[in-house]
Amino acid sequence: MIKKETIDRILETARVEEVVGDFVQLKKRGSSMIGLCPFHNEKTPSFHVSPAKGIYKCFGCGKGGDSVRFIMDHEKYSYPEALKYVANKYNIEVEETEVTPEFKEEQDRRESLYIVSNYAAKFFETQMWTSDEGKTIGLSYFKERGFREDIIKKFELGYSPDDWTALLDSAVSEGYQQSFLEDVGLVVKNDQGRVYDRFRGRVMFPIHNFTGRIIGFGGRTLKTDKAVPKYVNSPESDIYHKSNVLYGLFQAKKAIRDLDNCYLVEGYADVLSVYQAGVENVVASSGTSLTDEQIAIFSRLCKKITVLYDGDSAGVKAAVRGLSLLYNKFLKNDLITLDNKSVIKESFDIRIVLFPEGNDPDSYIQKFGASAFKDFISKNEKELVEFYLTTVERKDLDDPIKKIKISDEVAEILSNHPDPEFRSVYIKKAAYSLNLDERSFLNLVNSKVRGLQKRLTVNEDIVLEEQKVLEEKRLLDTIAPDEYQEKDIIRVLLTYGDQLVHWEEMTDTYIGPYIITNLSDVTFANPLYARVVQYYHDELENGYLPKERDFIQHPDTEIANMAISMISSPYQLSENWYNMHNITVPNETDKLKGTVMGAIFHLKKKKINAMISAKQKEIQEEKDEANVMILMKEYLELKEVEKYISNYLGAVITK
Ligand code: CTP
Ligand code: MN
Repeated sequence: MIKKETIDRILETARVEEVVGDFVQLKKRGSSMIGLCPFHNEKTPSFHVSPAKGIYKCFGCGKGGDSVRFIMDHEKYSYPEALKYVANKYNIEVEETEVTPEFKEEQDRRESLYIVSNYAAKFFETQMWTSDEGKTIGLSYFKERGFREDIIKKFELGYSPDDWTALLDSAVSEGYQQSFLEDVGLVVKNDQGRVYDRFRGRVMFPIHNFTGRIIGFGGRTLKTDKAVPKYVNSPESDIYHKSNVLYGLFQAKKAIRDLDNCYLVEGYADVLSVYQAGVENVVASSGTSLTDEQIAIFSRLCKKITVLYDGDSAGVKAAVRGLSLLYNKFLKNDLITLDNKSVIKESFDIRIVLFPEGNDPDSYIQKFGASAFKDFISKNEKELVEFYLTTVERKDLDDPIKKIKISDEVAEILSNHPDPEFRSVYIKKAAYSLNLDERSFLNLVNSKVRGLQKRLTVNEDIVLEEQKVLEEKRLLDTIAPDEYQEKDIIRVLLTYGDQLVHWEEMTDTYIGPYIITNLSDVTFANPLYARVVQYYHDELENGYLPKERDFIQHPDTEIANMAISMISSPYQLSENWYNMHNITVPNETDKLKGTVMGAIFHLKKKKINAMISAKQKEIQEEKDEANVMILMKEYLELKEVEKYISNYLGAVITK
């Protein structure tokens, strides 16, 4: 268990814009920041971060919370995992209360998988830096390849001893469970039940997830024997999903965002050498073609991708078509906004660079250095379609069947680009270069674009459906009895509860206690709101004045969620929206008294009205004359109160 003091320190230190900013490109908008929501697919940003309040909120999908919550949701971490992540980011030492053996057992499985992976990485590192075999074979190999010690350490490279059970024995003797080692594929069990290390006598490249935890490994053999596979990789596991991992991303993400560009290379060695030369915005797809998930990752980080291929790489041509999916950041996403104009601007600038025969980014940059490397790229990078056209050979165009196939492929690639202007420029170029009739080629591309749009429209219906449901919910919210008034009270309580005010008849008054006292006679119909009021009341009795933070981080997640949605009302977060629409927002704090009193008295009025109706009904149903008189008297008293409230509302509050 993490100590309370540590948790407090973490929560106090974390800057939401920094924690979120590691994953989402944020732009400043007034007092808040906005970006594309990482929790749902969208083209126009509705993800708001409020540094002042320490929270984020997406007005598209509704997700919201503080820094820790963000890490929990984004990385699928448990609460303690997320706390540790944030602590690590801010170099806060995590103090834990004594861990019992039972607790260790209880720790969730995923955490155990991370832990054994981390243990293995440390083991491989220690082997490489301290054992004779590690030093003479592993470390010297890396050094021969020109990797500096700081880079070897930064990427946590290591060496797995040439032994069947080196890791297994060491891990088990330290108390790690064999089953976890099996689950992440660090050890393998064969049909005869024999258990042994997967990685033996290999230099080790740990693979990190976005937040820097180790989730898998690549191990390169040092043998030249063709029968031995050059690389052995961790299998898929509960913590390692190859499709959404890019090697080096953890180390590169900041540079990628800062430079708004990413170099995509093929191998581990390429990443290391390029990074080492100071070009830090580099990741590898690790020998596979780009997946939709990887594209989605890029789409949140940058606008330009430069793909660097080995001179003798086999799959370049085949890869181009897949890469064209990058054109449309949102092509594969299941959501499309109705405003097509915003879609068009969002496309990737994709460049391809082919290194000279026999060279890859690794060897090139090691040989010639970073500036020659960048120079080479800027001189040789080609736009994706342009690149494709250069790979087409003259003789293929003489073969009608091949020519049809090629033009179809180019049309396919072009149809992925959302910008009609871009398409028309390249339709001309392609038609010229492939010697096609421009008109019919244009028709071909357009028919593919339409086909694509049709596929997207199906999704659009789903979105419309979702919007309808939301609309209905909103409607329900407005007609539900007392709901609105109760909600407003809660909102005021959360937002201004701990503010000290000096109003004429009430000096030195805290708003929260004032509200609670004044509403002691009111029962909240909404059970959630009732819980909030009860909580507030109880804390006051304990001598504690709840703060906004107490609600945002409330252990009752329903309360926390509600608090987050309320606090991040568009009222506070999207001033820009109001600016854009030339609406002046009345500053609520300026009219705080009106707001507070309005909230209290509107709710009271609502409750009184309900009581009046109930009383009327009672009177109608009462047969006994004497009782009717009593009821009438009560009725008139209620009417008096109602009149008082109405007058008050009319006079004081313009709401
Ligand atoms: N790869 C793999 N399995 C193989 C070969 C390659 O998983 N048998 C993946 C690795 O991620 C590798 C990438 O494909 O990094 C590119 O392959 P290659 O260019 O052969 O590897 P390099 O990292 O460049 O290795 P080196 O320069 O050490 O030969
Ligand atoms: Mn290589």
